[in-house]
Amino acid sequence: MASRVTEIAENVYQISTFVEGANFRFNQYLVRDEQPLLYHTGTNSLFPDVREAVAALLDPAHIRWIGFSHFEADECGALAAWQSLAPEATAICGLTSKVVSVDDAAALRSAQALADGETFSTGKYRFRFLRTPHVPHAWDAGHFFEETQGILFCSDLFHQEGDLDPLTNADVVGLSRQTLLAYLQGPLSGYFPYTNHTQETLERLAGLQPVLLAVMHGSAFLGDGTQALRDLAVVMKEVLNP
Ligand SMILES: [Fe+2]
Ligand SMILES: [Fe+2]
Repeated sequence: MASRVTEIAENVYQISTFVEGANFRFNQYLVRDEQPLLYHTGTNSLFPDVREAVAALLDPAHIRWIGFSHFEADECGALAAWQSLAPEATAICGLTSKVVSVDDAAALRSAQALADGETFSTGKYRFRFLRTPHVPHAWDAGHFFEETQGILFCSDLFHQEGDLDPLTNADVVGLSRQTLLAYLQGPLSGYFPYTNHTQETLERLAGLQPVLLAVMHGSAFLGDGTQALRDLAVVMKEVLNP
């Protein structure tokens, strides 16, 4: 189960593993900078593959930051494994993630909490954190936006099933719609909630004007991220709140 590595933007590498049983890809993102950041760890079962992929790009022991959207195995399950390997690796996440789950149940060292709108730098690159409770899902959900290159790390939003290309400029919303519909019928239904805040949260993300959507499951999208988020908002309303 070797992972595929693709540089999707300058110094931003997608490490993608296709899991046949799930029928979709798990993408982690490595940002190579003075203080290297791994966005999502992947699950513990993927750890050997992800570590090997990272090792082809930089010394895995030099990972400094581990970011993620929300507390879930594919987002941060291998956090302790990474922290055992990389002595300076620190989780960087929303305050809710830190105090509700991560410090107690996942991290070997205390996480660095981010407030809504707060920025931090890894050297050349600057990230802004937005709290987005229940988008895509989970109370603690948040999004990271890399401001110098306009990259939105969008976690489970735009989830597309299948063994797909690393990057596309074709429509990803249609495939996301199919995935949302498939989940509604299956044993894992209830994947995304739809709340009074869903539309305004997606519009806030659209307002960042991303030019690249670093998707966790499926192809990353290069193009008009604002329009894609607005189109996804329409689909989510239609599918989840008919
Ligand atoms: Fe998730
Ligand atoms: Fe996920």
